[in-house]
Amino acid sequence: MSEQTSDLQRRLARPAYPRSAAYDQRRLIETVMGPHPLWLMEALTQVLPLQPGMRVLDLGCGRAATSVFLAKEFGVRVTAADLWIKPAENWARIRQAGLADAVTPLHAEAHALPFADGYFDAIVSVDAYHYFGTDDLYLAYVTRFLRPGGRLGIVVPGLVAELEASAPPEHLRGHWARDFNTFHSPAWWRRHWERGGGVDVEVADAVPGAWEDWLLWSEVCVAEGVAAAQGDLDLIQADRGRTLCFARAVARAN
Ligand SMILES: C[S@@+](CC[C@H](N)C(=O)[O-])C[C@H]1O[C@@H](n2cnc3c(N)ncnc32)[C@H](O)[C@@H]1O
Repeated sequence: MSEQTSDLQRRLARPAYPRSAAYDQRRLIETVMGPHPLWLMEALTQVLPLQPGMRVLDLGCGRAATSVFLAKEFGVRVTAADLWIKPAENWARIRQAGLADAVTPLHAEAHALPFADGYFDAIVSVDAYHYFGTDDLYLAYVTRFLRPGGRLGIVVPGLVAELEASAPPEHLRGHWARDFNTFHSPAWWRRHWERGGGVDVEVADAVPGAWEDWLLWSEVCVAEGVAAAQGDLDLIQADRGRTLCFARAVARAN
């Protein structure tokens, strides 16, 4: 390992995420789509128990780094489903990771999932569920693919507290994108899922330390030449955890 690479590994080794620290951080930077996907997934698996052999849907898996992580770390069988990223692209990465028997890549739209009811032991999603899961009827739709007692778990960019005004707070006005209107507080997610019915909400909180982690990750991505990370960096520096967080929620299907 070159000195530069081991510096990067050291810099991105977060004490809260020891499993993620073992992965090739440069490769993660090369396939980045937003915040560090493994940190978000590790934060989720710290509150969502997984057992070897379970069937897990990684919904909105992007470039499937989290799907590989789940299979490797927990011995689960993963369906890596995504809309924007082609399964052939993910299949190459899955095979390269030696997980061809454990991870199946799939092109899927979150509202038209091609699975049998009750098929999965867990459905997980990081940095994706806010694109489709804020709809009032979505929870009942997606949880029908869980067996009774199976769990749905998400980590999404969110708000510390719901905004009172319809406009974003002053310090974020220059940074606000339309997507951010899908950001909600952990308390909002709890209520949204409690109202949705058919589940017991076990967790709804903000991932501890997540904005500092997002800041570090964005700084490193920008320094490594990922121009697209500059917007996130400006946003987090402007906010510094005042308004934005990562909301984490886990529910158990009845
Ligand atoms: C910001 S990327 C995050 C990807 C990955 N989870 C990660 O953390 O690197 C959001 C992902 O959500 C997926 N997505 C958005 N809308 C979707 C939908 N309606 N159905 C399935 N996937 C969707 C996109 O394909 C995209 O890969």
